Amino acid sequence: MDNLLLKFMTCGSVDDGKSTLIGRVLYDSNNIFSDQLESLKVISKKYGTQKENIDFALLVDGLQSEREQGITIDVAYRYFHTSKRKFILSDTPGHEQYTRNMATAASNADVAIILIDATKGVSLQTKRHAFITTLFGIKNLIVAINKIDLTSYSEEVFNQIKMDFTDTLKTLNIQNTETSFIPVCATDGDNIVIKSKNTPWYKEHTLLEILEDITILPDTNNNVRFPIQYINRPDENFRGYAGTIENGRLYVNDKIKILPSNKTTTIKEIITYDDNLKSAVKGDAITLTLNDEIDINRGDMIVLESEYSITLTDTFEAMIVWMDEENSVLNKNYQLNIYTQKVNAKITKIEFIKDMKTLRNFKENFLKLNDIAKCTLQIDKKIVIDRFENIKECGSFILIDKMSNKTSCAGVVTEITNGKNENIFLHNHTITKELRAENLMQKPLIIWFTGLSASGKSTLANELEKTLHMQGLKTYLLDGDNLRSTLNSDLGFSQKDREENIRRVAHLAQIMLDAGLIVITAFISPFAKEREFARSLVKKEEFIEVFVDTPIEICEQRDTKGLYQKAKDGMIKDFTGINSPYERPINPEIIINSKTLEESVNQILDYLKMA
Ligand code: ADX
Repeated sequence: MDNLLLKFMTCGSVDDGKSTLIGRVLYDSNNIFSDQLESLKVISKKYGTQKENIDFALLVDGLQSEREQGITIDVAYRYFHTSKRKFILSDTPGHEQYTRNMATAASNADVAIILIDATKGVSLQTKRHAFITTLFGIKNLIVAINKIDLTSYSEEVFNQIKMDFTDTLKTLNIQNTETSFIPVCATDGDNIVIKSKNTPWYKEHTLLEILEDITILPDTNNNVRFPIQYINRPDENFRGYAGTIENGRLYVNDKIKILPSNKTTTIKEIITYDDNLKSAVKGDAITLTLNDEIDINRGDMIVLESEYSITLTDTFEAMIVWMDEENSVLNKNYQLNIYTQKVNAKITKIEFIKDMKTLRNFKENFLKLNDIAKCTLQIDKKIVIDRFENIKECGSFILIDKMSNKTSCAGVVTEITNGKNENIFLHNHTITKELRAENLMQKPLIIWFTGLSASGKSTLANELEKTLHMQGLKTYLLDGDNLRSTLNSDLGFSQKDREENIRRVAHLAQIMLDAGLIVITAFISPFAKEREFARSLVKKEEFIEVFVDTPIEICEQRDTKGLYQKAKDGMIKDFTGINSPYERPINPEIIINSKTLEESVNQILDYLKMA
């Protein structure tokens, strides 16, 4: 791979100063010709917002209508270079409905610059940008904290935003991402190409230096994927298989296998428009001839014979970004395009939707514009599909609405689930949760208590259930100690067992919710991931997390069951708070601390009335 070429994208909201930043990069790195500069001065006067100075935003906002509206509305590719490196920049617009362009740009870029307005901090859009760029494979983020001049070049503001952004990545479970942070003022050029004197506390590189120095690691997965796009048969004597290598490298004489037929042969020639090659690599458009006559069809996939574990797929899980104004419909037929393949596909299940405001997962039966969701998809033909993480080209796809011909979503394959649930067919029952709830005359809910042992979860949950019950509501209380002596009696307190404990409880609570009940659960549930899983099984408004935030010292003092003492004496291992962790909820709906039992119950009742 040409490590000298860097493909990067920029993302920022409309007013973050993105176009100005790009203009600055081009101008300060001498990538603007003098005639462009002259015309820029003229249009700056006419449309600019910078009085007598050059308005750099106008340099990049190429379209007339953008100038008039003062916003950027298309993806633009720009080529420029410095003495060290060549760059391709894709400039993507910031407002919400253009998520689609961002997904496209991200799947083609190595680096994303995420702009944050220093006066506003991490916004909903910032979170969306971080999630989508990394979802579509970007491993290097540069966070440009712009308008730092408006904060009097404040190091505190910079550090706060840095911390908030890092927290966002953590909450979104984004790993393996290199992130750098730069304080910039795009209009004045601070830290873009020239180190700013206004931010003496910033000791790292300028934006351009970072772009020049970033090393892009080549893909490590060398499995060959050569889908056959068409068969070239000009006469009886020649039969060539043409296409583009999506991954890996092919050599003459390589032993290959054709899927789905599984027939094997060897490569005779690798032909291009100009020449015959000894080998060809990812991205090359070639025609192959083979040493045996085999029946091969358009759409078949050539892989190396030695890749034993490859299987054909018709069911997989994917993260998708919904881009259509029209909502998704479960089990509706869409057209799925993946590398050169076009197949019928349907979304059979929405595992969860990510709420970008709270970064939480929730359940719904349809996706609307800009939703980001994990779904299960089924296609009507078994083909080669890879996890995006392994082979980008064979693990990313789009769905097209067959009626409107619009791109409905872009997605990346996260898991091949083939066969796992092959013989399981979900039934749609006539009597639904809504109908049951109507009969019971109540709104089904899960009230999920979490907190240390002896924090008061069970007592409080019991008291709450009593009150609700007396109001005539239909409730059920699931409690740690009780469930662990029945359904979960096979489980201990290792991390794995606790995860399984909560997984079962989460599903059980979901089933009871479906039955129309108000479900109260009282489990330590020490891991954020499992609590979030429980939340993700139901709709946003159906899950209320109650954090019983009793300090550990008080729990230890209470020690109603004598367990803290036992744990300290070494008689119980993996005891929460002593030698096993408790991850505090970041944003629970309700926090209970230092109140009487009655006050605590009232606090929850008040919340329920409001909700
Ligand atoms: S969880 O961590 O898997 O959510 P759960 O709420 O089901 O725990 O069970 C906790 C109860 O099990 C505690 O209230 C306590 O009575 C008992 N227990 C026994 N051993 C442990 C331990 N090692 N850690 C925590 N609780 C324990």
